[in-house]
Amino acid sequence: MDLQDDSNQNQIGDLKIRTVSLSDMNRLYYIEIHSFKSPFSMETLSKLAQIPNIIYLVAEIKQFIVGQIITSLRANEAHIISIVIDKDYRRRGFGSILLKKTIEKLHEKKITKLKLEARVGNKSAISFYEKFNFKPVKTKISYYSDGEDALEMVLNL
Ligand SMILES: CC(C)(COP(=O)(O)OP(=O)(O)OC[C@H]1O[C@@H](n2cnc3c(N)ncnc32)[C@H](O)[C@@H]1OP(=O)(O)O)[C@@H](O)C(=O)NCCC(=O)NCCS
Repeated sequence: MDLQDDSNQNQIGDLKIRTVSLSDMNRLYYIEIHSFKSPFSMETLSKLAQIPNIIYLVAEIKQFIVGQIITSLRANEAHIISIVIDKDYRRRGFGSILLKKTIEKLHEKKITKLKLEARVGNKSAISFYEKFNFKPVKTKISYYSDGEDALEMVLNL
């Protein structure tokens, strides 16, 4: 093993999770448009960053943002509005760390249920959620604007 060349290793030790700031919006919008068929606009991301009942966390490596998770809170239930990791940084455990941090915050707030919708064709996201023990509860027909169905998944916390 070449100990000097770790540029492609998973960099988990350098990962920092923090609350979003409005100055992050350009980078977050870039990640959105390169990851989703129907990305949030920059205006929507900025609004979400300012709503009190939302936990909006970003993951960064040496001050370079690699992903985000946005979760809304209502009574004792929470809903993942979005989770995304930059394409070049996927499958290194960063999405898991963002989700774990969110779950920690939900435990502190005594929230007992976490829900989300995923495109039925988004097999990688569904595998990701299954690893966290989310269970499929229903299919929402033509949930997305292009007609694709959504799988609703729930995790009891
Ligand atoms: C879903 C997403 C956030 C996962 O982030 P990530 O940092 O790549 O995920 P992790 O590295 O933490 O993966 C954890 C586990 O999830 C599963 N998983 C993640 N990506 C997967 C893939 N492409 N195929 C199969 N399983 C996958 C695996 O079980 C993985 O564990 P392993 O690597 O030990 O096998 C990321 O793929 C992403 O940004 N996708 C595009 C946006 C998106 O679809 N968001 C969800 C909308 S509902």
